[in-house]
Amino acid sequence: MEPIIQFIQSNQNLYVEELKTFLRIPSISTLPENKEDMKHCAAFVADKLQQAGMSRVEIFPTEGHPIVYGEWLGAPGKPTVLIYGHYDVQPVDPVELWNTPPFEPTIKGDNIFARGATDDKGQMFIHIKSVEAFFKVKGSLPLNIKFIIEGEEEIGSEHLEGFIQQHKDLLKCDAVLISDTSLYEAGLPTITYGLRGLAYMEVEVAGPGKDLHSGSFGGAVANPINVLAEIIAKLHDKKGRVTIPNFYDDVLPLSKEEKKNFELFNFSDKKFAKELGVQELAGESKFSTLERLWVRPTLDCNGIIGGFTGKGAKTVIASKASAKISMRLVPNQDPKKIAKSFTKYIKSLAPKSVKVIISNLHGAYPTLSPLTGKAVKAAAVSMEKAFNKKTVFMREGGSIPVVATFQRILKAPSVLMGFGLNSENLHSPNEHFSLTHFQLGIQSSAYFFEEYSK
Ligand code: BES
Ligand code: MN
Ligand code: MN
Repeated sequence: MEPIIQFIQSNQNLYVEELKTFLRIPSISTLPENKEDMKHCAAFVADKLQQAGMSRVEIFPTEGHPIVYGEWLGAPGKPTVLIYGHYDVQPVDPVELWNTPPFEPTIKGDNIFARGATDDKGQMFIHIKSVEAFFKVKGSLPLNIKFIIEGEEEIGSEHLEGFIQQHKDLLKCDAVLISDTSLYEAGLPTITYGLRGLAYMEVEVAGPGKDLHSGSFGGAVANPINVLAEIIAKLHDKKGRVTIPNFYDDVLPLSKEEKKNFELFNFSDKKFAKELGVQELAGESKFSTLERLWVRPTLDCNGIIGGFTGKGAKTVIASKASAKISMRLVPNQDPKKIAKSFTKYIKSLAPKSVKVIISNLHGAYPTLSPLTGKAVKAAAVSMEKAFNKKTVFMREGGSIPVVATFQRILKAPSVLMGFGLNSENLHSPNEHFSLTHFQLGIQSSAYFFEEYSK
């Protein structure tokens, strides 16, 4: 492995330049005006896979954004690893809070700043470069590789499940490797073995047929914003628990053993609060912060729209108000079942003076993987070799919808070998990625191909 690792080290500058080109493409999946950029970005990924040495590369159009597939199956008898990543990114707003333009990658110290730097362009690019290093140094890979890189992760991976279902044979593999998660802390090799799921809902409260003068009509008609605020306020009790009936029914309790492992992290609430700029943390009572983040379900309002929000004052009762509400779910909660309970409860809370319209925007199943498989062990050893430290295992509060799908349809375990940091501002202004972790990621990935092929 020495020559490959040396090759990866000596090519860092080139890798960073290529990553910059990737980061310049504004591949925001949720915005219709970026549809062409999405196509351009898929083509970029396909080109890079081709250049890296994949023998077959194909772009599959979908009803939404294209899926990029690549493969090299030149190691018969050896395991096949499927590498998943996403080339789409989140919107950049509020853009005025960025210190440098979101699509003009800028290096400051050890970090590269751009939308998508850590989530997930920088992380997925790692595997393209490690594959390329093998081909350049050795002319082949020690195992079979497939890539599936999608463009709809940030909007719920709507068309990916159908694609996987339709292409079960094409995607057949022994394990899935994903770099779209974080290290527990800088320099500490980490494997994520659990993700929360998601049920993302939108609630619209409709009152009068048109906006009304708040003096002439206020007091005699329900104000949709007031009603919506009351509904939202009723969704938690004083102990921070979600009040939706049956919400906690399927929650898998934390085992004693896992609880002990969590304690080994020595998590500091004080430090965390300071990093987030709050006086005190908040959440469901009687649970530690790591439990609140990793093993407890939550409900949060993500956005609220209604009425007059411009500068100055306008006296008006808006005809409508709406809120985007997400619930992070844990094993064994079912997003479909939760969405139903949510809908029923919200309807029961709404007074007759308004109409409520509830829609389910998207969802994801939670996941929990055993730590005993061959792939996860190989990944832990590989990261250890690159980082020169013992690998830790953690859960994550965020979601990656496809992980449960791979398990269900391909019957393949996913290994989440992430290289980001939760402090790298993913989904937020000034997103960045550590160039040290980028380099160590490429090395870890290369070690993984070797380890897992044994
Ligand atoms: N890469 C993230 C998931 C993640 C977040 C992993 C933080 C580790 C730390 C992923 O791109 C993401 O943002 N997922 C969405 C999924 C949703 C849109 C269905 C999420 O969790 O909000
Ligand atoms: Mn991601
Ligand atoms: Mn994301």
